[in-house]
Amino acid sequence: MILIRLLVLTLLALWSVLAQAPTRCTSIRTRREIRQLSRQERMRFIHAIRQLNQGDIPTVWDNYALWHLNLNHTIHRSPFFLPFHRRYLVDLENRLQAIDPSVTLPYWDWSLDAKAPFDNVVFSSASDWLGSQGSCLNDGGFARFYVTCTESGPRSHCLSRRFRAVNGRTTLYGRDIIQRIVDTTNTYNAFRELLEYGPHNLVHDMVGGDMDTMCAPSDPLFFLHHTFVDKLWADWQRYPNRGRQFDGTPSGEQLTSASLIPYYKEPVSSSLSTRAYCYQYAPSPEPAELVPSSDRPNLPEAISKDFIEHWGYNATKVRNVENYLKGLADGNGKGKVGVLESNPTHPLSF
Ligand SMILES: *[C@@H]1O[C@H](CO)[C@@H](O)[C@H](O)[C@H]1NC(C)=O
Ligand SMILES: *[C@@H]1O[C@H](CO)[C@@H](O)[C@H](O)[C@H]1NC(C)=O
Repeated sequence: MILIRLLVLTLLALWSVLAQAPTRCTSIRTRREIRQLSRQERMRFIHAIRQLNQGDIPTVWDNYALWHLNLNHTIHRSPFFLPFHRRYLVDLENRLQAIDPSVTLPYWDWSLDAKAPFDNVVFSSASDWLGSQGSCLNDGGFARFYVTCTESGPRSHCLSRRFRAVNGRTTLYGRDIIQRIVDTTNTYNAFRELLEYGPHNLVHDMVGGDMDTMCAPSDPLFFLHHTFVDKLWADWQRYPNRGRQFDGTPSGEQLTSASLIPYYKEPVSSSLSTRAYCYQYAPSPEPAELVPSSDRPNLPEAISKDFIEHWGYNATKVRNVENYLKGLADGNGKGKVGVLESNPTHPLSF
């Protein structure tokens, strides 16, 4: 009797382990917001990246930006935007773990900092943070970090950032709007386009320097930004009937989840679950000051004309997306927070 009970308990324990993780994952990594890491954890992350950027040029680190530059057209303005970047983050995370198994990619939840994006500890000059700005970044964990990718060919240069302000201020998409995009957009490609064209592009545009070029992954901040974009996709996927969605017709051709992720040549279906890649997300911290729900949320700045031209986006579409998101922010959008199946009729033709 005791033996049978033991056997049952063992089987149950085994089953719960197997149920949590596909057998090829030895564990599930949890990615957290950078402010949830200890100083020691941030130092290890920075150190592992610096290790990847050592040796002959182009370094292993440089190659990530060079691929991104070369893939430009297939991974932006395309449904592959989310699957490609998810796979690419896992690729880098595996490299970092080979150097230091305790490292997982942190994310920067910029929606918490929407009203003053660069005026917070993430951009602090202390050695365990990301540093501020400059034509040669000279503070933080990546002070005097040399990278090679430029859009006009490989050339070693110091990492740069140039924060953009409009009328003396910078405003990104805040948590209210981001949450509404996640809650109310029920089809994959509409969600992907709203996220990519609006909030995602605005961060690249506002950080400036290497970040607003196709060599953006030269800046470690790129990975914190895209890890948050990936988390938003994962949040979106948790709603019913969304988890396996993937579609779109970027150049007339109908894509499906059997289509191959550019560069990696693996089916999109393999990227639709974070757990299949052996990671999950910890929830973002709560904002220190929640905007009272009766308050009209801050509206984000418009994406600059220069950025749109430089990255080859369709300006009409970008403005349509921005206007739609303004409607969501004002509460005029058809979707209501918390109404899962409201399925607003999208005003745009995606
Ligand atoms: C990226 O692709 C877009 C669209 O084809 C193009 O307009 C842009 O110049 C490209 N950027 C680079 C750096 O190649
Ligand atoms: C840009 O987008 C608009 C709106 O979706 C569309 O009507 C127009 O044809 C697009 N322009 C180009 C050059 O693709």
